[in-house]
Amino acid sequence: MKTRVLPVSRESIKEACEILRRGDVVAFPTETVYGLGGLGLETAAIQKIFEAKGRPTTDPLILHLPSPDLQEAISAGWVTEPVPTFAFALTKHFWPGPLTLVLKRGRLVPYPLTAGLETVAVRCPAHPAARQLLSSLGAPLAAPSANRFGHISPTDAPAVLQELNGKIPLILDGGPCPAGIESTVVSLIDDPPVILRPGVISAESISESLGIKCEISTSLSQKNTPSTSPGMLASHYAPQSPLYLCREPIRHFDPKYQFILFGPREGSSASNVHSLSPDHRPETVARNLYRTLRKVDSLRPT
Ligand code: TXA
Ligand code: MG
Repeated sequence: MKTRVLPVSRESIKEACEILRRGDVVAFPTETVYGLGGLGLETAAIQKIFEAKGRPTTDPLILHLPSPDLQEAISAGWVTEPVPTFAFALTKHFWPGPLTLVLKRGRLVPYPLTAGLETVAVRCPAHPAARQLLSSLGAPLAAPSANRFGHISPTDAPAVLQELNGKIPLILDGGPCPAGIESTVVSLIDDPPVILRPGVISAESISESLGIKCEISTSLSQKNTPSTSPGMLASHYAPQSPLYLCREPIRHFDPKYQFILFGPREGSSASNVHSLSPDHRPETVARNLYRTLRKVDSLRPT
């Protein structure tokens, strides 16, 4: 299959909708990372996503909603009541945006999307291209990150092409993703709510908007079993190169390895040393993390 890359435009969104409506998949930008979208209520489209990614069917997908109004998702049969008031508080504050909520599965959500769980992860993305796509489609999209399973998530269209060339018909190119890491996943099934996957929105911001402390789950998933926190596998988002991620400045950079520093390079000009944030800002670290891991992999001797 030939994979085409088209800049986001009214025409390319229209074409993406046609591809999606016939049950195929399309990669598109979100504010976090690029997603691989397919009709979220159609089992065949969901299966195509798992196939293209080589993802185990025990790892559930996020349903991306066309509207930030949670009540609409309940009325449409995508989420089932009771929905805790915490969920409404969070969506009012953070949607559209990089927050995913785990709630009770609505009757129209097929089990392959949830990996057989009675819960469903939902989010309404903020990226204008994602919003345009969802509203033109008028239906929710299942969309994991647009990488092969276990690989680094893509934060621009060339990275998606590197991951899925020949496996999908279309990539909508909306430039680099502004946040650069995934949405925060919060389970509202637990009381109090628990963060299943740390992401763009910090635990502090979530706790502040809820008025209670929201903890980060520490449980890792067992291989091939859906659990309450299925995406937290021991190996995930994994680069191929041996590398060190250095929190503190170090003196000697062994040329056998690549080094990624959180802060500035502090005068080191060696080609195996990379900085995530010359400005020390966490937002810059997030934006550069996957891009830098990918760059380091491309430097790997073959
Ligand atoms: O930022 C994001 O969330 C990106 C963009 C494309 O929206 N998507 C993304 O999807 O990161 P994915 O499939 O790579 O990660 C989804 C995470 C996984 O850790 C999965 O296990 C978890 O959400 N998840 C999905 N459904 C769940 C459920 N019912 N219960 C618990 N965790 C769930
Ligand atoms: Mg992913």
